[in-house]
Amino acid sequence: MILIDLPPAINELLTRLKASPRLVAHLRLVHDVSACLVERLSKRFPTLKYDQSAVMFGAATHDIGKVQYPNELTGHGNRHEEAGRALLVQAGFPLELARFAVTHGQKRDESLNLEDILVQTADTIWKRKRVSSLEKDLINYVMKELQVPEWEAFTAIDDILTELAADADARLGWQFEHPV
Ligand SMILES: [Fe+2]
Repeated sequence: MILIDLPPAINELLTRLKASPRLVAHLRLVHDVSACLVERLSKRFPTLKYDQSAVMFGAATHDIGKVQYPNELTGHGNRHEEAGRALLVQAGFPLELARFAVTHGQKRDESLNLEDILVQTADTIWKRKRVSSLEKDLINYVMKELQVPEWEAFTAIDDILTELAADADARLGWQFEHPV
């Protein structure tokens, strides 16, 4: 698969932490999808304001805590979330960026901002999973911020997610080629 590279600082940290090939592959995939997501979103809604690089950082690091809880790579569990935030802070990243290690698994509520919603979206749509409540949050956010009608926000976001989901089979195959 042709994927954009993870930021060098993240690659170095993953190497230092001896992250498994499966985890690195997953982070590369979700990071790549997040880049496509923010690009398409900006094209469709150029005045929507948010921190695109924070979204990409969050996508690139969200599951990093799984270096300490490798069983959560293949099974359920959320112990990797706090662990991931701690690892990132310890590595010198600001809490503002490290938070995605926790918020990617957080139930959606008022405390989540657009960047958090977009990291969750990238971590979902990469494998063609559609979560209607998450999509609704994204649509509502766009409607409120840009004062556009619901149908317009819905259509644009549905188009973007449908397009991103199209490569899901190739992504799943590629991720599973990498050992845990
Ligand atoms: Fe993930």
